[in-house]
Amino acid sequence: MLSKQPIGVFDSGVGGISTLRVLTQMLPNEDFIFFGDSLHAPYGSKTAGQVVDLSQKVVDTLLAQNVKAIVIACNTATSSAKPWLVDHYPNVPIIGIEPALKEAVDDGHQDILVLGTALTLSLPKFQTQLDQYQENHHITVLPCPGLADLIEQGDKRLTDIKALLIDLFKDIQNRSFSAVVLGCTHYPFIQPLIETYLAQKNNIKFYTGYEGIGRQLIRTLEQKNLLRENHDKRYIKFLTSKKGQDELELYKKLFKNGIQL
Ligand code: DGL
Repeated sequence: MLSKQPIGVFDSGVGGISTLRVLTQMLPNEDFIFFGDSLHAPYGSKTAGQVVDLSQKVVDTLLAQNVKAIVIACNTATSSAKPWLVDHYPNVPIIGIEPALKEAVDDGHQDILVLGTALTLSLPKFQTQLDQYQENHHITVLPCPGLADLIEQGDKRLTDIKALLIDLFKDIQNRSFSAVVLGCTHYPFIQPLIETYLAQKNNIKFYTGYEGIGRQLIRTLEQKNLLRENHDKRYIKFLTSKKGQDELELYKKLFKNGIQL
């Protein structure tokens, strides 16, 4: 593999674009190819086995594009499929985003809310982290079924997103959190809304884990002599499993402007 090859980034759909925005800033000399598996989104309501199969197909598509490394910009795919992918593609550096609970704990937060898909939050990867910290911290874990699916459709579903947030947060209205872990890459697009709909606000700090995975990507590429030092005109290319130009236009819009709330 050569440093001049692009980096592949994927998600079940548009969520990974929020990760991509940070990665492209942190690695300004790298080319990126983003693949959104929007045809099969959401991953969060599937079984871990189904997510492994879908992730394998996406990785094959990205490797056919000659990528030098893969970033799983999807918490659900990392927790379901990363060990399998690392095993089956031993020559490809593969890193994956996961809920940044450790980061929130390390920053000294005591009352922490973790949001994610039902699948991510039920799997051993997250449960092991939770076991480690919950004895000494108040950690509230809230799966958000349906939320990624609505965000997947961009700002045209804003009214439904607001109604769902009210419903999801109804049992935590009397709770106060100093940190919120956004354990699904779709959620950062609506972070200001999430903050609005949480009842008790006291300077909440949000954790996405994006800077962490950016640093991990830089370290991994450095170790393998794959980091690109300079580049006059880098490119960012978008691919999707969903047919039609509309989806790619949505990806580009979200990359540029996020969701207009
Ligand atoms: N964006 C994904 C994540 O980080 C998954 C959303 C979904 O497809 O359910 O978990």
